[in-house]
Amino acid sequence: MIKKFNKIEKVKGTLFLPGDKSISHRAVMFSCLANSKSVIHNCLLSADVQSTMKCFRTLGCEINIKGKTIEIIGKGFKGFAKPQIELDAGNSGTTTRLITGILAAQNFQSTIIGDESLSKRPMLRVSEPLTKMGAKITTAENGTLPMTIYPVEMLQPIEYELNIPSAQIKSAILLAGLHIDEITTVIEPVATRNHTETMLNLITAEVGYGKKIFVSKKNYPVCNEYFVPSDISTAAFFIVLTLFLKNSELRIKNILLNETRAGIIVVLKRMGARISIENERLSSGEKVGDIIVRSSDLQNIEIEKEIIPNIIDEIPILSVAGLFADGKFEIRNVKELRVKETDRISAVCNNMKKLGINVEEFEDGFSLDGEIKHLNNQFESYGDHRIAMTFSVLSLLLDGQNKVNGFGCVDVSNPEFLNQLSSII
Ligand code: S3P
Repeated sequence: MIKKFNKIEKVKGTLFLPGDKSISHRAVMFSCLANSKSVIHNCLLSADVQSTMKCFRTLGCEINIKGKTIEIIGKGFKGFAKPQIELDAGNSGTTTRLITGILAAQNFQSTIIGDESLSKRPMLRVSEPLTKMGAKITTAENGTLPMTIYPVEMLQPIEYELNIPSAQIKSAILLAGLHIDEITTVIEPVATRNHTETMLNLITAEVGYGKKIFVSKKNYPVCNEYFVPSDISTAAFFIVLTLFLKNSELRIKNILLNETRAGIIVVLKRMGARISIENERLSSGEKVGDIIVRSSDLQNIEIEKEIIPNIIDEIPILSVAGLFADGKFEIRNVKELRVKETDRISAVCNNMKKLGINVEEFEDGFSLDGEIKHLNNQFESYGDHRIAMTFSVLSLLLDGQNKVNGFGCVDVSNPEFLNQLSSII
């Protein structure tokens, strides 16, 4: 699907965005692990979260969607049914990597498959640490899906230091650790999103070079009522749009402000963005608040390595802010972007080159500089929801009519993107 966008003049109003994707996945998973009924409010109902639900239905869980509220009848410790078909994770890396940690501890065989994009993404990063715990997992020859997980009686605890700063790897190990009496420890040298730890009430300890996270069967989830805050990663598209439109002001309600996720606010404020937070509070253990964003003048800044995991999903839209900010935009230490839903470094660079600006691509990042020379472009989504929304926002800020080819993939994280947009124009 090709979507056409004309330049807009300003935005105004209030946005209520859908639930956070990372927390929605986890709320569904932990409800399925618990042994009776849990309720999830403001759950994101995007294609990715539906993939998680589909997998757990295949494992025998009952999941009822009642508007934005989900009721789940979990199966309890090792209560899942042996799946009669392959578990289809669709486009979702989070579904695949987290469920692998759960399946690794079961006494039945299961196979995970995914769409074309997911089938190219690296899975040894989860199968290797889980194998160290005694799991039996095979992947396709190049370390990708399909991945088959064989039955085991009992896993062994490990102490594992993450060599890639990834919340998905961390969570896979912690979820396997939930099935073991003894304590499993994950050492995280660089902070990544900590929703798994928060939602499972895990004990953590700061150590000289990072953090230790401890988990055992004592942390196995019980039935719960989850209130999912709205997604900061989705909000980021509307924040950047507002910043570069004249006379614009937007209030975005009930947004997740967890420090391991809200790096985009920190970076944009350092670039000069007029962003303020009101109504800050805790909801289901997570910091949330309303974001107020106003038209601003931005300058490019140096982006340090330590903050990268906290802005990892927002880098494509941050590059649009960098394009319009004064000075050269450069980001390094982001080679993880090459193994997301698409190679996001190439996707951003290829699209930005269409503007006639100077684009330099590095193995671990890219830079953007110079005046925009070409309008009326057709950008490519490469089947990646965040690339589609990034270049939709850019198109709304450019003169002329610009298009995004393959726009439909926005359903992966935000099926309501266009309705939200039309409510503020
Ligand atoms: C996620 C972790 C991140 C992020 C992804 C969601 C999660 O991936 O990019 O969109 O919910 O744990 P990595 O942990 O692999 O960096």
